[in-house]
Amino acid sequence: MHPLKTRQPYPRNQWWAAAYSSEVGRELLGRTILGERIILYRTERGEPVILSGLCPHRAFPLEKGCLSGDRVRCGYHGFAFSASGTLEEVPSQTAIPAKADLRRYPVAERGGVVWIWTGSEALADETLLPDMAALGPGSPAWATEQHRLATIAARYTLLIDNLLDLSHASFIHADTIPGGNFVAGLPVDLVETPESLNVRRKGNGLPPNPFFKLMFPDHAGPLDQSFDAEYFGPHLIRTGGALYDSANGALLGTQNYLHLITPETPSSLHYFVITSRDFATGNPALGQTHMDMGLRIQPQDKAAIEAIELVLQGLDSPPREVSARCDTGALKVRHRLETQIRAEECPA
Ligand code: FES
Ligand SMILES: [Fe+2]
Repeated sequence: MHPLKTRQPYPRNQWWAAAYSSEVGRELLGRTILGERIILYRTERGEPVILSGLCPHRAFPLEKGCLSGDRVRCGYHGFAFSASGTLEEVPSQTAIPAKADLRRYPVAERGGVVWIWTGSEALADETLLPDMAALGPGSPAWATEQHRLATIAARYTLLIDNLLDLSHASFIHADTIPGGNFVAGLPVDLVETPESLNVRRKGNGLPPNPFFKLMFPDHAGPLDQSFDAEYFGPHLIRTGGALYDSANGALLGTQNYLHLITPETPSSLHYFVITSRDFATGNPALGQTHMDMGLRIQPQDKAAIEAIELVLQGLDSPPREVSARCDTGALKVRHRLETQIRAEECPA
């Protein structure tokens, strides 16, 4: 599926953000992830549970049922399932049908996010979870904001492309990102490690603006600002980065924008955004400004990639693409993702 040349649209042996922790409680939450309906809830002890979301009896959506203790009871004919997905009760008979259990997905909670492993359970490995605390969420040294979850009618790869080429900030976000108008003109560096691929830009001597003033009230002069786009995998891209005093190169702080991307279907995605900073952590006005900016910025990206998705769906064959020099990182990321998916399609 364009832009990938793989049979599967997405990797499955992968942790994905399933929900913010605050969304998961003692009510059943229904969601579709990688084309599969799931339900999420917490046990009475507070542990997150993710089960397949359709009743095996007549495909009733289980989020319309209810929780009884830690058991899920279907709202149609009352089949009841344990928190491990086992069918334990059929109200109309004593025998329990075979092959009627729900799938229980491996689950983990880090950085205020409930993560789901969508592949083979035997391969679920918590060491593959992103180190959220190192990026801010879950660390007491950082302030964080969780932005409203958006569901976007576009394939997830379009959002990865979008984030890996931040030159778009100078055009679609020229009026919403302070300093965004500089981005397209900045030189690009590529930093590749086995863990990540970072498309780095640095704006030097950016003139003061009201946003800088809010971030660093004691600083008067120009700043050097990082505009990183760091791909950790299809589930996590970090943008933002370090800010420095232009006069002496001193580090003032780091501002991260964490983009958690989860395919909903082959042509739609869930988009979780968390902002984090290790300075001015006690300034709620700054946090609120980030939330307000997010409400203006995100619809601009959504509109752009939904427009491309519509175009792609109307084409009989993949579009011809002409890439610019700054697309090198995005093209390498496509290659990483294709390699990841191919390893699942044809294991060594
Ligand atoms: S559909 Fe769930 S019990 Fe019948
Ligand atoms: Fe954007």
